[in-house]
Amino acid sequence: MGTENPAKAGELIQLLQEVPFEIVMPREVGIGLNVEETGQTQEENARLKAMAYHRASGLVTLADDSGLEVDALFGAPGVRSKRFAGEHASDGERIAFLLEKLKDVAWEKRTARFRCVMAIADLKGRVYLCEGECPGLIAFEPRGTGGFGYDPVFYLPECGKTMAELSPEEKNRISHRARAAEKARGVLKEIAAGIAN
Ligand code: IMP
Repeated sequence: MGTENPAKAGELIQLLQEVPFEIVMPREVGIGLNVEETGQTQEENARLKAMAYHRASGLVTLADDSGLEVDALFGAPGVRSKRFAGEHASDGERIAFLLEKLKDVAWEKRTARFRCVMAIADLKGRVYLCEGECPGLIAFEPRGTGGFGYDPVFYLPECGKTMAELSPEEKNRISHRARAAEKARGVLKEIAAGIAN
């Protein structure tokens, strides 16, 4: 698994429980990388991460690049979701920065979506992409302690809760990452079948 983010890794491990691979984290195989996300799109960044960890490990590798697209900000922060409030900002600072930008935006115009792109590199270095989205609205203030990143301000109208108020199981049923993982499970099964044959 090509990620150094423990919260993301925890969700991915749950979502990929049934794949026919043993899942290992970079540190478990002696890899410590800081992959620069220099791509112009989430697809490019997911591919960069998957290939960097694949080259370092020689293993089938899955990496995830996720982002928040806010309609009132014309799709920003999108691919810049991590660096939105500066290179070393915390989740809290990113949320505060986002809420400040949206302070004059009315509820019905606060529509947004989380978008997850997973890249899977196979043993030959071929990359497969899987995408998932989850629509919602940006709340006026943070609520909840679950999840990570922008979850406390991502409100899901059908649940009446923010993503951070969901249990880990609930988040993993409906999230952008869950939707991408559904496709990724199929790709991983095909790769495993190819290796076995
Ligand atoms: P990356 O996929 O690690 O590059 O994440 C980009 C940014 O989006 C970071 O600020 C993450 O904290 C945030 N992010 C990624 N996934 C999620 C999620 O599932 N919920 C909330 N924020 C997320």
